[in-house]
Amino acid sequence: MRHNKKIKIAVFPIAGMGTRFLPITKTISKEMLNILDRPLLDYAVQEAKAAGIETFIFVTNKENTKPVDYFSKNTKLESFLKKKKKIDLLNEVKKLNIKKKNMKIIFQDKPSGLADAILRTEKYVKKEDFCVILPDDLIIGSNCTQELINVYNKKKSTVIGVMEVDKKDVSSYGIIESSIFKKNMYKIKNMIEKPKVKDAPSNLAIVGRYILLNNIYKFIKKTKIGSGGELQITDAIFLSSKINEVWGYKFSGKRYDCGNKIGFLKAQIATAFKDKNIKKELNKFIKSIGG
Ligand code: G1P
Repeated sequence: MRHNKKIKIAVFPIAGMGTRFLPITKTISKEMLNILDRPLLDYAVQEAKAAGIETFIFVTNKENTKPVDYFSKNTKLESFLKKKKKIDLLNEVKKLNIKKKNMKIIFQDKPSGLADAILRTEKYVKKEDFCVILPDDLIIGSNCTQELINVYNKKKSTVIGVMEVDKKDVSSYGIIESSIFKKNMYKIKNMIEKPKVKDAPSNLAIVGRYILLNNIYKFIKKTKIGSGGELQITDAIFLSSKINEVWGYKFSGKRYDCGNKIGFLKAQIATAFKDKNIKKELNKFIKSIGG
């Protein structure tokens, strides 16, 4: 089997309707909602860039093309900031730019599942192994993608971010089963997408970070419609585990589920708390309102 030396491509599935955040998502897609001064998607892209990713593929729907603008050069804004001598801001804005040749937009018109979104990238990923980042899962405190790439570099096989969750919450996640655990790595022998609590083989949940071998496309094509009537990447990876090893890595950062309101708010506060002054003010404010 062919393995490329370096993971250089990241896929960002962002075609969801964001119904849990309606009505705001009527006009702004979930990934473009802000955590402090940046859209959620920006954190995912920054994580990828810091992990050495060079090509960024967004799988989106036709109404959601704002990410392209966000990561493209804005000549008018840049010359305005230059004229006003706002050099720090100018540099900040310039840092966002991704060259046209390194950014691809692919459309997924119906929400037919994560595996369906990934399958659409085959033509662009070509023969490379690649990573998938779900921007909904904001991970603070470590670069999860980099940690998974480090494992991939050693094992040359599929690697997935995993974390322990409360047993009562297992039905919101893909759940793995493993009997070998060493150095934060689980060798996976079974994976079930959103099992009932009574059917879950463990409380080890998949988070939205994956390093996938190129042969995943072949397995997606063999995957049957799964949980929620959608084509699930969990099922495709499980199929592939019969041919190559699949590892779960217990990453070291803290994950915030920005797919729901309380997780999103917690991510706001955790991100804001990175700034000492904001932290002091915000703590004072929360106490003052009876928190
Ligand atoms: C997706 C995956 C699931 C994973 C979750 C992590 O589900 O299908 O296996 O546990 O992301 O956020 P979603 O939350 O998109 O339904």
